[in-house]
Amino acid sequence: MARIIGGIGTTHVPAIGKAIADGKQNDPYWTPFFSGFHAVHKWLAREKPDVAVVFSNDHGLNFFLDKLPTFAVGAAHEYRNEDEGWGIPVSATAKGDAALSWHLIEGLVGDGFDITMCQEMLVDHAVTIPLNLMWPDGNWPQIVPVSINTVQHPLPSMARCFELGRSVGRALMTYPKDLKVVVIGTGGLSHQLDGKRAGFINRDFDTLCMDQLTSDPESLTRYTIPHLVELAGAQGVEFLNWMAMRGALPGTVSELHRNYHIPISNTAAATLVLENRPRAQRKAA
Ligand code: DHB
Ligand code: FE
Repeated sequence: MARIIGGIGTTHVPAIGKAIADGKQNDPYWTPFFSGFHAVHKWLAREKPDVAVVFSNDHGLNFFLDKLPTFAVGAAHEYRNEDEGWGIPVSATAKGDAALSWHLIEGLVGDGFDITMCQEMLVDHAVTIPLNLMWPDGNWPQIVPVSINTVQHPLPSMARCFELGRSVGRALMTYPKDLKVVVIGTGGLSHQLDGKRAGFINRDFDTLCMDQLTSDPESLTRYTIPHLVELAGAQGVEFLNWMAMRGALPGTVSELHRNYHIPISNTAAATLVLENRPRAQRKAA
């Protein structure tokens, strides 16, 4: 049975890729952000996950506004990156675990999620930057990318993304292979890149989201998408990826580490590590 060790939420701002390429991790602007990953590296070095399920949103590299699935699951043996136009180097290719992908797809469709299955999928900065941040030596685990539409309205609800995650969590628990899995949700937290509120950030709401994500994630499903746009900014809706990540943690969840720093580019940058422990078995009467 696959074992879900926990989840990680992280920002995926493209400028981070440029900072990595230029070796700027210890520059005054970047230190408060990159230093937040030391604890993540320690945890990952201890836990050594074999696979990462990555919930993120594509920004126009793989899908565009003409054809944009609400939920898409990668079922490929590898996932390439391409020049996205942010001035960041093209990233290394991520290896896929296609067998696990198909198992998750079976579970999702069985649970009523009419997902798009992709035997070919490019991955953009929303996948490659978190992988580079978490495994800077390039020794990435295999991945299963799950793409959630956070770009073109109507977007899936917070509740639906949480349920998507739960379905993935259930499928992982029935996977016969003995794998260690980490679940990742990328993007956010509050940010808005365009329009009258460009530069909008909401520390109070971000803090509430991180607090509730650990202790009472269902309470966050009361926020509608218009609410979320108002409170987190037009691109802060990327928090949907974090909701899916949390949904995929079926055990007892506790916060191991958090870093929050304003700003990285236009974004309130956040990193959150959640540990997932199997629920205690009830003793037989
Ligand atoms: C920025 C943030 C994002 O989430 C993104 O996808 C692109 C840019 C930014 O803050 O610059
Ligand atoms: Fe983004």
